[in-house]
Amino acid sequence: MAQAQSTDPIIGQTFGNVVAKSLLGRGGMGAVYLGYHAGMDMKVAVKLLPDLFVGRAELVERFLREARLSGRLQHPNIVRTLDVGQSHGVYYLVMEYVEGVDAQKLLDREKRFTPMRAVNIAGFVARALGEAHEQEIMHRDIKPANILIARDGKVKVTDFGLARSLNNTATALTLSNQVVGTPNYMAPEQIKTTTVDMRVDIYALGVTLWQFLTGVLPFEGETPMAVLLNVVNEPLPMPEGTFGALPKELREAIVAMTAKDPRRRLPNIAAVLAVLKKARDALLHAGLDSTAPLTAAGTRPPVAETRDPVSAASFAAPIPTTGNKPAAQRGDHTTFTKPLGGVPMPKPAAAKPAAPKPGSAPPRKPPAR
Ligand SMILES: Nc1ncnc2c1ncn2[C@@H]1O[C@H](COP(=O)(O)OP(=O)(O)OP(=O)(O)O)[C@@H](O)[C@H]1O
Ligand SMILES: [Mg+2]
Repeated sequence: MAQAQSTDPIIGQTFGNVVAKSLLGRGGMGAVYLGYHAGMDMKVAVKLLPDLFVGRAELVERFLREARLSGRLQHPNIVRTLDVGQSHGVYYLVMEYVEGVDAQKLLDREKRFTPMRAVNIAGFVARALGEAHEQEIMHRDIKPANILIARDGKVKVTDFGLARSLNNTATALTLSNQVVGTPNYMAPEQIKTTTVDMRVDIYALGVTLWQFLTGVLPFEGETPMAVLLNVVNEPLPMPEGTFGALPKELREAIVAMTAKDPRRRLPNIAAVLAVLKKARDALLHAGLDSTAPLTAAGTRPPVAETRDPVSAASFAAPIPTTGNKPAAQRGDHTTFTKPLGGVPMPKPAAAKPAAPKPGSAPPRKPPAR
């Protein structure tokens, strides 16, 4: 691994005030590096955009516009955009570095999330979307890989608005089979039309929640186009094996978020938070507030042994309002940013883990590989 990194020509390069230190990962829209901002003496993440930007003024313009817009978003559940620019012929975006793991990697490891963890993460993402939508910024690429879970358990949404720079179906399907924006999370109207609104994020969050619970993607297909066709034409499956054991409120929340026709979908984030709260209350009522994975038989370890601080978070807190109010008034620091507790992280930190809160679960060991 160290050898692979040392041959990476990006390592050691400077992007604005930031030196690239190591590769964090690659996605459909380029690579993300851990960087060091000498002026600020802090770690940052630098996203390098793919070559297809070069020489395409219109794409570049749109990317810069979206990056500047997303830079306005300040919310505890949104990864902060710090800078944007071009260096060595590469367009880059500097953002807050979140030390932790993205929800896709966590899901790959855990196979699926407990219902309470799934609903709570979706709730935090809804909070982030609430703030963005109030500022008329759509995300357009909500999916587990864009949901970061920090070591301290905070949930932060990344890549706000970035998909817009590239992500329309035509672009997605002409990128030599590399799909920008994942078809499984695209709302039918995002595939069929060019006029979309905030409801595409609600759809994608519904699919994401579905995936958290089942551990798989709902629509399959041999090519991106085949998946897109299934998204448009096939109903979202509700496998009995997963949903049979869960309160109907959870199924109803997902159905309402993922209606194919946007006019039948939940219209805004306030409505999303309301159904998620109902689902959460139903889980509590059913004693399903454990964060330990359900067994195949749908049983779980006793709640007292597995309680996780985020289970106590309340969706009843007010919906975040735009920017200028102090965070305390938005109510979001005190509720949805409570640590998830017990989330296994890929690389153990040198720093000591926070002491568990009274009544919280002991940290779970990552599964042996
Ligand atoms: N701000 C950040 N802090 C820490 N890690 C990050 C940050 N942003 C992204 N990452 C990590 O970098 C990796 C690549 O992210 P990237 O956004 O390029 O990929 P993706 O989300 O899978 O695909 P897409 O290009 O569609 O967004 C991910 O594994 C993610 O965990
Ligand atoms: Mg991403």
